[in-house]
Amino acid sequence: MPDPRSADPIDISSAAFWTQPFRARDRAFAELRARPTVSFHPTIEIGSSGGPGFWAATTHDDIQYVSRHADLFCSGRGVGFTDIPQEYNEPFGSFLMTDAPRHTHLRGLISRAFTPKRIRQIEEQIQRQAGAIVADAVSQGTCDLVTALSARLPLWTISEMLGVPEDRRAELRDAANLMVGAQDPELLATMDDPFTAVLTAGITMSVLGSEIAAARRTDPRDDLLTGLVQAELDGHGLTDEEIGAFVVLLGVAGNDTTRNSISHGVMAFAEHPDQWALLRSDPERYLPTAVDEIVRWASPVLTFRRTATQDTAIGEQAIAEGDHVVMFYGSGNRDDHAFDDPWTFDIARQPNDQVAFGGGGPHFCLGANLARAQLRSVFRELSSRVDAFEVGEPKLMQSAFVHGIEALDCTFVTTA
Ligand code: HEM
Repeated sequence: MPDPRSADPIDISSAAFWTQPFRARDRAFAELRARPTVSFHPTIEIGSSGGPGFWAATTHDDIQYVSRHADLFCSGRGVGFTDIPQEYNEPFGSFLMTDAPRHTHLRGLISRAFTPKRIRQIEEQIQRQAGAIVADAVSQGTCDLVTALSARLPLWTISEMLGVPEDRRAELRDAANLMVGAQDPELLATMDDPFTAVLTAGITMSVLGSEIAAARRTDPRDDLLTGLVQAELDGHGLTDEEIGAFVVLLGVAGNDTTRNSISHGVMAFAEHPDQWALLRSDPERYLPTAVDEIVRWASPVLTFRRTATQDTAIGEQAIAEGDHVVMFYGSGNRDDHAFDDPWTFDIARQPNDQVAFGGGGPHFCLGANLARAQLRSVFRELSSRVDAFEVGEPKLMQSAFVHGIEALDCTFVTTA
């Protein structure tokens, strides 16, 4: 098997590459998808401090293959572009960065909060809250969509699930934003010491989680945190620090992903008014397929990394033990071997085997059904109130990790 560790001539690693819009970047990914196998690239310049380079899994098939072979491609050595310094492990070392058997145990404990039955129970509350938020945003006529609408429901949902008191939700939001935005040069420029700032944000969220956990030990309630403090793993309860790490993961994973999906969804409907008209013609018929098309279109999480646990291969390409493999979900979501006309926004698309929530396997997004419920609620409410959207140019976050929209001028056109 060939082992050409020399870098592929197509640049997907420079900071300049990641300043381009998604569609322009996809021209490079389309060339990589057309290669016979995975390609090798220098470590991405933003959000990392150098590293050994990585194999790029850009096709739908390769993303699924890597995701579903966790024995060959592990998460325990880090999921970002470079290895995580040891001091990050305590506050951030959640089960996202663990492998079986520990991952299986930890995920088992937390997944009880995310069963379809539990999601159905909270969907009613989510729907009510979405109604209030959408009504408020639409009444403003013109607004920054992100602050007025997109950011509000995800923060409310995750705070309710975790039991974060009202007066501490802004703290959770700001810390989560800082951790997710840590690749963005604009945000970095506001910090004297980005490393410490990100670490502090992680610790802030972890401490918040530990405090709520401590309160639930003495005053149990019917909520996720009480379930976690009462849960046992290998005969031992979770420590407050371990619960704090869950809170960091949920606070980060549950906030910006859904927020960016809502913003990208509104942009997509503004650009495709025929699709908005179709959704409004029969929301209950089209919402289920529309939300999957919105997340495919948005690809809110752009990348996650794995590390090869042994000498192996992806297709014809030899991969050595310790090699980094990065999955490019946005690229997989535009793969024309998996999707007819991938650059067409089609809310009735079926089947839609999008990889926005991951390519399957043990780490598949635990919050996928919760995110779908939130998106259904928001777009259901919008469909009953808004005739059309007019949007300006989005202020995009520069990141190779999240497909972030920081701000978006939006006018809700209504006949009422
Ligand atoms: C549209 C919204 C969302 C997208 C696109 C998304 C995407 C992802 C992706 C790509 C992964 C990694 C999958 C893998 O490695 O195979 C992931 C993992 C995860 N997500 Fe989401 N996510 C979303 C919403 C949420 C929400 C709302 C929550 C919770 C409140 C959540 C919780 C998690 C957790 C806990 C994991 C780690 C699972 C594990 O390692 O076992 N996500 N998500």
